[in-house]
Amino acid sequence: MTTLAVVGAGSMGAQIAQQAAVHGVKVRLQDQSEEQLRKAVESNRGHLMRRVEKGKLDQHDAEAALGRVRTTTELGEAAGGADFVIEAVFENLEVKRTIFAELDRIAPPQTVLASNSSTMGISQIAGATSRAGLCVNMHFFYPVLVMDLVEIVRGPSTSDETVERAMSMAREMGRTPVLLNKEIDGFIVNRILHSATQEAYRLLDAGVASFEDIDTAVEKGLNWPMGPFRLGDFSGLDVTYNARLHMYSTTGDERFKPSPQLEAKVKAGKLGRKTGEGWYRY
Ligand SMILES: NC(=O)c1ccc[n+]([C@@H]2O[C@H](COP(=O)([O-])OP(=O)(O)OC[C@H]3O[C@@H](n4cnc5c(N)ncnc54)[C@H](O)[C@@H]3O)[C@@H](O)[C@H]2O)c1
Repeated sequence: MTTLAVVGAGSMGAQIAQQAAVHGVKVRLQDQSEEQLRKAVESNRGHLMRRVEKGKLDQHDAEAALGRVRTTTELGEAAGGADFVIEAVFENLEVKRTIFAELDRIAPPQTVLASNSSTMGISQIAGATSRAGLCVNMHFFYPVLVMDLVEIVRGPSTSDETVERAMSMAREMGRTPVLLNKEIDGFIVNRILHSATQEAYRLLDAGVASFEDIDTAVEKGLNWPMGPFRLGDFSGLDVTYNARLHMYSTTGDERFKPSPQLEAKVKAGKLGRKTGEGWYRY
C-alpha cells in the first residue's frame, strides 16, 4: 500500500490528501499550523458526510477514508516513511525550495517529490535537492475532490520512471493524468483558459458585445459550465488580473496585457463573489 505525504493543508493540500485516502492510500498530512490541520480535517469530514447524506458514499467507507489521513506539524513524521510526497504550500519559491531541501534529507532516497505549484516549473525547485530525477510537477485543480484532472509536468531532469510513478499515483487517487513533456507557463489548461478569456476581454473592450452576452454565447455555444466573466467572479478578479500581469511582465507579449475594464474592476475593489460584486452582483 502506498504511503503518501502531503505538505501544506490549505485549500489544495487538504483535499489532495482526502482524495487519495478515499481511494485507499495511507496519507500523512503536514502543515506548520495546527489550526490549518484542524480546519482541513473538519472541512474534509463535511465534504464526505454530504456525500453520505446524498447516498453517494457509504458511512463506513467515509469513516475509513477520514481515518486514513493522519495529521502532523512535523515534516519528519509525515515524510520519513513516505513513498511519495506532494507539496502544496504557499506559492512562494523560497518556501518551496526550503521544504524540498528538507524533504530531500528526510524522505527515503527513492521517494518522489512532487509540487502542486500552478506557476513554478519543477526545474526551479528541484535544484534544492540531490534528487532532481525524482522531482516532478503534479498540478491538481480546485476543488480537488471534484475536479478529475492532474497535469503532470516533467522538468529537464525528471526521469522516465518518476513520470510513470506520478502518472500511477494520480490514477491510484482516482484522477486522470495528462503529461506535459516540457515546462511551459500556465501548463495546458490555464494556457487555453487564459487565451479564451483574453479574447473575451478583447471583444468586450472593442464594444462587440456585453459581458453578459459573451458569457451566454460561451455557455450555450461552447457548453462551458460558466462563461469567462462568471468564472472570473467565481475565482476572484484579482486572481485573473494578477495572472495576466504575471504573463505580460514575464513575456512582454501584448496579447497578455490585462484589459482596462478588468483593471478598473480590481482597482475599485470589485473582485467578484468574495466582495459581493464583480461583473455581476451577489
Ligand atoms: N488554489 C488553487 O486553486 C490552486 C490550484 C492548483 C494549484 N495550486 C497551488 O497549490 C499550492 C497551494 O495553494 P493553496 O491555494 O492550497 O494555498 P493555501 O494558502 O490555501 O494553503 C497553503 C498552506 O501551506 C501551509 N504552509 C506554508 N508554509 C508551510 C511550511 N513551511 N510547512 C508546512 N506548511 C506550510 C500554510 O499553513 C497553508 O495551510 C500553491 O503552490 C498553488 O499554486 C492552487
